[in-house]
Amino acid sequence: MHKFETDVLIVGSGPAGSAAAALLSAYGVRNVVVTKYNWMANTPRAHITNQRAMEVFRDLGIEEEVNQKAVAQEFMGNNVFCTSLASEELGRLYSWGTHPNRLADYTLSSPTKICDIPQNLLEPILAHAGASKGSHYRFDTEYLGLEQDNEGVTATVRDRLSEEVYTIRAKYLLGADGGNSQVAKDINLPFEGQMGVGGSMNIVCEMDLTKYVAHRPSVLYWVLQPGSNVGGIGMGLVRMVRPWNEWLIVWGYDINDGPPKVTDELAKEIVLKLVGDPNIPIKIKSTSTWTVNHCYATQVSNGRVFCMGDAIHRHPPSNGLGSNTSIQDAFNIAWKVAMVVKGQAGEELLNSYNTERAPIAKQIVERANKSITEFGTIFQSLGLTDTTDPSVMRANMEKMKDHNDAAEMQREQLRQAILFKSYEFNCHGVEMNQRYTSNAVKSDGTIEPAYKRDKELYYEATTWPGARLPHVWIGNDNGHRISTLDLAGKGEFTLLTGIGGELWMNAAQALSTQLNIPIRLIQIGPGKKYTDLYGEWAAIREIKDAGCLLIRPDFHVAFRAKDIVSDAKEKLAEALTDILALN
Ligand code: FDA
Repeated sequence: MHKFETDVLIVGSGPAGSAAAALLSAYGVRNVVVTKYNWMANTPRAHITNQRAMEVFRDLGIEEEVNQKAVAQEFMGNNVFCTSLASEELGRLYSWGTHPNRLADYTLSSPTKICDIPQNLLEPILAHAGASKGSHYRFDTEYLGLEQDNEGVTATVRDRLSEEVYTIRAKYLLGADGGNSQVAKDINLPFEGQMGVGGSMNIVCEMDLTKYVAHRPSVLYWVLQPGSNVGGIGMGLVRMVRPWNEWLIVWGYDINDGPPKVTDELAKEIVLKLVGDPNIPIKIKSTSTWTVNHCYATQVSNGRVFCMGDAIHRHPPSNGLGSNTSIQDAFNIAWKVAMVVKGQAGEELLNSYNTERAPIAKQIVERANKSITEFGTIFQSLGLTDTTDPSVMRANMEKMKDHNDAAEMQREQLRQAILFKSYEFNCHGVEMNQRYTSNAVKSDGTIEPAYKRDKELYYEATTWPGARLPHVWIGNDNGHRISTLDLAGKGEFTLLTGIGGELWMNAAQALSTQLNIPIRLIQIGPGKKYTDLYGEWAAIREIKDAGCLLIRPDFHVAFRAKDIVSDAKEKLAEALTDILALN
């Protein structure tokens, strides 16, 4: 006999699991979260929170709360490269879209802003959003295993306080149990790549670094100290947790030697070395070790079990993609499961989760690992790669200050190498350009538009079916501006059309009633509730006034028609029934 039943059982309360719970509850679907420990993330971990994640928070109504606890974009932008915080600075990179040229790209692409919020502050906001709308969180509860049949999944869990082992029955199970996912193992997900390709330690500490950072505000300060750790090139990271008195230090260790025992003395020694000022009082809060992984699942679901987050993509923190992608996984699966549970869609809709998210898992794991290797060009420009002798390395770095052709070239190489790190710190395209091709998108027969600029660095707006609905500001009936994204989401499909699109509106209305699926109807144009005040919607929508876009609850374009057609109802019905697997 099962202890209890639910619609969706979520294993794990990290960004993936908590976002999934919050979304499912917002969509009115019963869900239970089991999570191993007595609380959520106990260290800062993820922090860069990109605009796509913020759009999910906006949809959930928690964007403001997140912003209140976050450090804003304008304080994130000076990626500093130095020999210690107190000594020589080698260069800086405007990052996270703060270069005036890049700020326009970021600002134009979304109603939200990238920000920095430590994971231990974000998770409780997500949990509150879910629990206040119905999610049941069961802390100190460890997932042990599962069995699935045609009707559902039975999971065995253990209450870690009472040692009681019991079963929970659910229609679907979401495996959001992190980089050592037991759920992924239990459903035999295939993986490519390698775990443990490098070793790192985190040291969280309190120290007031205002005098070294307030004039060059940033979230990341990279310290290069040849000879001070593994492989000769000692590179450490001083990461802001709270401005400017709480920090997380990342320092590598040799994976072949296994994780070191990080005593407070060792931790202080490392921190001191990177800060370079023995007069700053340091209070160590915690230390931990972790491994650099290069591993992704090539299939992310099996039957009624769907894995998400680090369970399916395991990679270093470079580019800040982990938590952000985990939240996107949740945004992708939540509306699909909700519609299937409510009987509004066929189960085949769920297959599109695998088709849409598995390629993203691969893409971000490759990107994050590539970003680590791209530090190599900085090392090269400083003359750190052709020798293992730290004194030669230091001498090579000094040569940059000479007045000769070689030094001038070296200085140029360093400038270019730092700029090249935009592929880690200004990688807007990787964050925003996700386009899906699957059964949950109805092609309009056009080929995917080519990217005009580098697709990793730059986001390119399109309404090509499968792409995310572009953001522009339009006016509502009070003359206030509202984002096109605000017209969609909230777990519902949305039809966007303009003057002359009444046939689409009528068709959507009729289908909504017939299929019992809420579809929001939005007409944009003069005299309508919404007007294209800035003319930017007309410029970006790639359809005529009387055409239409059908938007999925996760903001991706499901269907597009360039203009009105006489058989609008048939066309829309075919698209919806295909997408929702209602045939
Ligand atoms: P996560 O590991 O967070 O959560 C797993 C959950 O499952 C936990 O609640 C755990 O208790 C639970 N669990 C595990 N086994 C269980 C079991 N058997 N039974 C029950 N519960 C179980 N990302 C990013 O987007 N931006 C960034 O800036 C950074 N920066 C960053 C810095 C550092 C230093 C690190 C180490 C990592 C990052 N990341 C990041 C990555 C980010 O932390 C990571 O990708 C997310 O935490 C993944 O979220 P998940 O919810 O998938 O797993």
